[in-house]
Amino acid sequence: MNEVGSALTSTDKSTQQSLASRDRSGPTLRPILSIVTPSYNERGNIRLLVTALTQAMGPVAWELIVVDDDSPDETWREVLNVAAEGAPVRCIRRVGRRGLASAVVEGAMAAQGEYVAVIDADMQHDETLLVRMLDTLQQSDADIVIASRHVKGGGLGEWNEGRKRLSAFATHCSRLLIGDNVSDPMSGFFMTRRAVFDNVVYDLSQQGYKILLDILTASRKPLKVAELPYVFRDRAEGESKLDVMVVAEYAFLLVEKLSHGLLPPRFILFSLVGGLGLVIHLATLGILKSFGESFLQAQTIATLVAMSFNFVLNNMTTYRSQRLRGWNFILGYFIFCAVCSLGALANLSVANLAISQVNSWPFAGAAGALMSAVFNFSVSTKFVWGRTKKRTPKAA
Ligand code: GDD
Ligand code: MN
Repeated sequence: MNEVGSALTSTDKSTQQSLASRDRSGPTLRPILSIVTPSYNERGNIRLLVTALTQAMGPVAWELIVVDDDSPDETWREVLNVAAEGAPVRCIRRVGRRGLASAVVEGAMAAQGEYVAVIDADMQHDETLLVRMLDTLQQSDADIVIASRHVKGGGLGEWNEGRKRLSAFATHCSRLLIGDNVSDPMSGFFMTRRAVFDNVVYDLSQQGYKILLDILTASRKPLKVAELPYVFRDRAEGESKLDVMVVAEYAFLLVEKLSHGLLPPRFILFSLVGGLGLVIHLATLGILKSFGESFLQAQTIATLVAMSFNFVLNNMTTYRSQRLRGWNFILGYFIFCAVCSLGALANLSVANLAISQVNSWPFAGAAGALMSAVFNFSVSTKFVWGRTKKRTPKAA
């Protein structure tokens, strides 16, 4: 017996037998339901999940696709072990990438079933609901069934006050996007048709955790939603990955969606680089002044230094996927300087207009700065980093 087998308890062994007793020789049924599970460090939960699904699904032909981001605890290896025992499980192991939402999209794109469910790996979602979710999809005109903690019969389980408040606030913010006809847009447990994923896939942000909200807002025609109650369970094994970054990513997602893509995470990065440029500008100005340089000269040099700094840093970070090199770098630099000069003009005219309407210099100053940031970003994206031709396949 191998190491894994010898470490199993007697209940695990009976599970292993029931998994292994599936007929592996004959043709396997095409699953009607593909269950997609994102996982990161969930080694201890995989076997529990597969066992629970095997019990819950009854005669429904299903498959489980675990999308694991190369977990350090080797969750992917555990998935392969369970699959080798005959369970209808596949593993997509992504190397060098992270993210719940993008993992779900990748799993859904690999799904064979007509229907796709999304469920966490950590047993916090009630898998016994899946069959009813499938029935609802098949027997009503709903496009998507959401397992909700906020309809009668649902609940949050053992959450502390802080987490409850955070979730309520996040739900409240999502109302800006989708109104209030969905009780639990933060849910990570839902089922839809594979075709719905195919329709929205190009319009998804894929940022962060909130894939359901992403799908609901990306769909061109409003999706018909059905909701079924469930109670969020405690974690069986391991720990939650919710951290400050997940909250920040949610904020980025909201900003992107609210602005209809005008303020993508890239814009936020561009603005952060701009803020850093301002610090460099003031530092240069201070140093030159201390050497007795006249203000106008010092200000001119500081502007050039800050602009060059912004160009180089944006080239390395914000636009790293289109990084300019060689002649393109030099040409791009001059165009960037021209764009920023126009941006400064836009800044001045908007600030001037604002101060004449509202007698508040902080408001006018901020309006001008925002104007130049939006202008510099959109024009640079197109004319500095968007000029390089895409490679086109050679004609045959
Ligand atoms: N592939 C991949 N990559 N999976 C991830 C990643 C990642 O970067 N981060 C988290 N996951 C997996 C976890 O392993 C787990 O299976 C699932 O995504 C949810 O992560 P948790 O860290 O357990 O989330 P949670 O319990 O705090 O949040 C839950 O509640 C939210 C509602 O408040 C999840 O169910 C969310 O989906 C849900 O929106
Ligand atoms: Mn969880």
